[in-house]
Amino acid sequence: MRNFLIILSVLVFFTACSSDKNTVVTSPDGNVAVTLLTDDSLQLRYQVEVDGKPFILPSRFGFDERQGFNLSQSFTIDNIKKNQCDETWTQPWGENKAIRNHYNEMEVRLHNPENVSLTLRFRIFDDGLGFRYEYTVPGADSLLVSDELTQFNFAKEATSWSIPANFDTYELLYRRLPLSQVENANTPITLRTDDSLYASIHEAALTDFPEMTLLRTDSLQFAANLAPWPDGVKARFDGNSFTTPWRTIQIAREAVGLINSSLILNLNEPCALDSTDWIHPMKYVGVWWGMHLGIESWVMGDRHGATTENAIKYIDFAAKNGIEGVLFEGWNAGWENWGGSQTFDYTKPYDDFDMKRISDYAREKGVKIIGHHETGGNVLNYESQLDKALQWYADYGVHDVKTGYAGGLPNGHNHHGQFNVRHYRHVVQTAARYHTTINAHEPIKDTGIRRTYPNMMSREGARGMEWNAWSDGNPPMHHVMLPFTRLLGGPMDYTPGIFDILYENAKNNPNRKQWNMKDSKDCRINTTLAKQIALWVILYSPVQMASDCIENYEGHPAFQFFRDFEADCDESRALQGEPGEFVAIVRRAGEKYFLGAATNEEARTLTVKLDFLKPGVAYDAAIYADAPDADWVTNPKAYTIDHRTVTADDTLEVRMAAGGGQAVSFIPKR
Ligand code: NOJ
Ligand code: CA
Repeated sequence: MRNFLIILSVLVFFTACSSDKNTVVTSPDGNVAVTLLTDDSLQLRYQVEVDGKPFILPSRFGFDERQGFNLSQSFTIDNIKKNQCDETWTQPWGENKAIRNHYNEMEVRLHNPENVSLTLRFRIFDDGLGFRYEYTVPGADSLLVSDELTQFNFAKEATSWSIPANFDTYELLYRRLPLSQVENANTPITLRTDDSLYASIHEAALTDFPEMTLLRTDSLQFAANLAPWPDGVKARFDGNSFTTPWRTIQIAREAVGLINSSLILNLNEPCALDSTDWIHPMKYVGVWWGMHLGIESWVMGDRHGATTENAIKYIDFAAKNGIEGVLFEGWNAGWENWGGSQTFDYTKPYDDFDMKRISDYAREKGVKIIGHHETGGNVLNYESQLDKALQWYADYGVHDVKTGYAGGLPNGHNHHGQFNVRHYRHVVQTAARYHTTINAHEPIKDTGIRRTYPNMMSREGARGMEWNAWSDGNPPMHHVMLPFTRLLGGPMDYTPGIFDILYENAKNNPNRKQWNMKDSKDCRINTTLAKQIALWVILYSPVQMASDCIENYEGHPAFQFFRDFEADCDESRALQGEPGEFVAIVRRAGEKYFLGAATNEEARTLTVKLDFLKPGVAYDAAIYADAPDADWVTNPKAYTIDHRTVTADDTLEVRMAAGGGQAVSFIPKR
């Protein structure tokens, strides 16, 4: 399964005549067509048609360069190659293990009077397209990209779902807006045109470039707006060449088609690691939520969370419940400077955290420790200790690390500029040398680099669970928005599964100190309990957390779902859904299946055919549902657990309360 398996790969080359300026390439099924246009001023432009109708009207290509190199004008075509690819490759983990990569490629080589050579590479799939730029500039020692000119000039008004553009954070609330009213947006931005075509604009393989956001330049026209360096330069390169990430447009006839697409992964480079057998998806718990609620602290003191005693308790709980990993935050010196000098020490545990004893105990119990490297944004401090820190953890048998960047970057850098994109990549590559996996919080957006570096497991990159502890929280629509937006890029460490929905236990805890921004009286989880369970299935992460304090799981009947659940799976399918309204997703892990469905503020019932199950097999369906009188506002904790014997011929009525959800595990009956 882990072997790279090419079923079919056909490459057909031909060279078009050099005077051909009007160039078209279509998807394998012929429904998506991209045309490269060169007009009289020799400005490069492209247009996209879907089902024979305009989708992107002529839109510009190119870049501006600060030293005066011409990267946009007067290009003429030297030759055009057309290639086809149809292969199936496998990944060590992921929503789907086997992935079909089926596209038609158009490689257009151009040059301009300054002899700048540009290859525009287009790959057109049945479910969308990507294009990228490959430049070589004779005589340049360095290149300073000052602007990207790529446009997305939409043909029609659409409903859109996105977060605003921001070069430092993605932890923002989603907006549903007519496209013509979006001033700027981060990607993925998802749309539905008035004639019901779904699309999402994003990027793939962002490893050495600033992130792309969109800026509206005319009613339905957007231009790429890149995160800058402190001096305003957008991207800088030593030498005379550079290749950009792919600019991507996913296209689907149904909203769930966007989720079921592998376009972003397919546009990334194949695995660059020699071996991947050391990479393990896992379920985990952690010393974490207590800090966010204020009943424990990261800093050593009376309320310290990461003590040896607590660590042993969490390891015991994990071992007893078949949970593979335990995360400890607040274990190392430096938390007292969080928000100040941000000088964490990654090899100095607090005195009450006995790393030797804890790691010996975890090994004995067969539980993995998940390490934590909070940087506070001080990436220079982190980089100066990176090798030593990873080696230190590896010596204790720790090969999975959660990183964090909660705080400003040094020297005026922002989180999403090229400087930090390089940092994030450097961490992933360095970690691979120690056979260590990374789960990044406050990350760069996910653009599918897990294909190339499968030790890049999961990341945050949207408002996660933590926002419910110290703000108005994430509204019910947020969780049914994420699969259609943020998660199109890749897995998310949202950390679902809070059972103490109203924080009753936390509020009764005499240790609780309000460090947070919001009055504790108002804070709560804005879902039902059944929806929390469903989110373990819906919000895919190969490292999936049961995020509540373990006391809230002890003896709770509904925790059985997490015990049965598998963090990783073999196949996934989004069955039904609309952005911000509802979603139903099924995943297969070996012989087991898991269904997760959730809704926004509206109660609704979905009819789900069980034809995804293996025919002829009887399954025990354990149904974790909202109780008939459940409601996320007035009665969020009311749930039921029912068992039914089902087969692939059956249909389930999935009833969900307002702000609710439903989770079902299907386990073959013996
Ligand atoms: C923000 C992260 O998202 C959260 O998970 C973590 O607990 C804090 N930073 C502290 O590192
Ligand atoms: Ca965060």
